[in-house]
Amino acid sequence: MGKDVIVACDFSSKADVMNFLDKFKDEKPFVKIGMELFYSEGPSIVSEIKARGHKIFLDLKLHDIPNTVKKSMAVLSGLDVDMTNLHAGGGIPMMEAALEGLTRPDGTRPLLIAVTQLTSTSQEIMERDLLIDKPIDEVVMHYAHNAKTAGLDGVVCSPREADNVHEKCSQSFLTVTPGIRFADGDVGDQVRVMTPEKAKLNGSDYIVVGRPITAAEDPVAAYKRCVKEFVD
Ligand code: C5P
Repeated sequence: MGKDVIVACDFSSKADVMNFLDKFKDEKPFVKIGMELFYSEGPSIVSEIKARGHKIFLDLKLHDIPNTVKKSMAVLSGLDVDMTNLHAGGGIPMMEAALEGLTRPDGTRPLLIAVTQLTSTSQEIMERDLLIDKPIDEVVMHYAHNAKTAGLDGVVCSPREADNVHEKCSQSFLTVTPGIRFADGDVGDQVRVMTPEKAKLNGSDYIVVGRPITAAEDPVAAYKRCVKEFVD
């Protein structure tokens, strides 16, 4: 599985995302479509971006009873996405059902990645709101292991956790890592950040990069810089 840079297209309208993608002439970045774009534009936004030659990571983070997730994943699979995700907190039966739903009649399927604990969930929130009293790092690794047990392809995690996830799950278990910033760039609201180059050294398989590319004066140059640091 080759390393790749996924551009988080956190736009809320088709006009904005197409205006952004129009800047790319020779390059066809792997694109992450999030809830805001999917909910505002509907499933056609996936096929339209796909038709332009981009791979798609559909970031909808499903979490429901196994039967509902299975049927929803079958719909997403039909949209021809390349990667999608769910919450590992839904449990192993839900993750297994998701895989089943995602698998097309010809046996192919998009990659399925689990979110462990959201980065917005602190130790305090976990203990107070979720009544989970284990250290958050342990919970994250346990959820990653559950995802591996259910047959998923990988997890979303911090590039700092990539090595550990590979060690606990397997080297081929994918780590999809946001929180990427250039050494000379703005950190914004991300707290623990890493450069594309360091993420590569730490073993990340995919980096998810939003504002360092989408808000750059020259997004194509910023994307190429990510590829140069992370892939080449
Ligand atoms: O703009 P920025 O590079 O911070 O965007 C990172 C992307 O990765 C956003 O789409 C954000 O929602 C997503 N993400 C994240 N941290 C996580 C999970 C997803 O930043 N733990």
